[in-house]
Amino acid sequence: MRVTLDGVAVVTGGGNGIGAAMTEMLSQAGAQVAVVDIDGTAAQRVAQAVGGTGYACDVADEAGVVETAKRISTEMGAPRYLVNNAGVVSRPGQPFTDNTEEDWDRTFATNVKGAAFWAGALRDGLIAREGHIVNVTSITGVIAAPFMPPYSVSKSAANGLTRVLARQFAKDKVSVNAIAPGFVWSPLWEDLGEVMAIASDGAQGGTAQEVFDGRIRDLVPMGRPQSPEDIAALAVFLCSPFASNITGQIIGVDGGITI
Ligand SMILES: NC(=O)c1ccc[n+]([C@@H]2O[C@H](COP(=O)([O-])OP(=O)(O)OC[C@H]3O[C@@H](n4cnc5c(N)ncnc54)[C@H](O)[C@@H]3O)[C@@H](O)[C@H]2O)c1
Repeated sequence: MRVTLDGVAVVTGGGNGIGAAMTEMLSQAGAQVAVVDIDGTAAQRVAQAVGGTGYACDVADEAGVVETAKRISTEMGAPRYLVNNAGVVSRPGQPFTDNTEEDWDRTFATNVKGAAFWAGALRDGLIAREGHIVNVTSITGVIAAPFMPPYSVSKSAANGLTRVLARQFAKDKVSVNAIAPGFVWSPLWEDLGEVMAIASDGAQGGTAQEVFDGRIRDLVPMGRPQSPEDIAALAVFLCSPFASNITGQIIGVDGGITI
């Protein structure tokens, strides 16, 4: 079994971490990748390494998404694959009233509305190509993460969005699935480590890496973190013809945390 992709893929948040690995693996499988990131320099760097194109875009800005989608379609061709990977973590909130309106708005705008905006902006081309949408959500959208309510609730909403889009696109033969990663070491953890330390009553504290390693020991049955490539490999599969009859699923890549 050899996975071969044919067409343009949009990877949001592709300038770092999981999105950068997705860009590389989708490209290896044959896709031409449009790397979209709020950090345009990071997007260019990752895109150039695989012969793709980088685009600066804030996924929470609907007008900017529509404009960037048009540019990608004109410059690279209408995309067949959409990977909604851009995401932000929220500040700690325990009790949840610690979170401000700004925390809720920023998290939902990026993690939920951004994915909906991109699916809408690329809708016609995805339908014409019987394409695939992959949303990167989180185990915190499957099991509650009480230490960061806006993030956890936004990822639940992103899983809900996945199911709604899957029903809407099903008759057009466009699949829509979500990957729910567990613990992947990435720049995101530089912020999240602080959140976790506070969430564990500040008992241990430590560096972000120490907090991360502690979480793995405590929570992951298979005993190791997930790599960006663990997540990216599933994205490639979900975009392939082998997965054409899978839609509306939230698939954990979490070393057994959600068992
Ligand atoms: N790292 C983990 O342990 C983990 C676990 C579960 C889920 N996730 C999810 O995986 C996805 C990728 O996370 P990561 O760990 O690679 O994080 P990361 O911080 O390394 O990368 C996220 C990328 O998204 C970009 N981005 C942020 N806001 C944006 C916006 N409004 N518009 C466009 N781009 C934006 C950032 O610039 C960055 O390049 C996120 O959705 C995250 O919630 C990560």
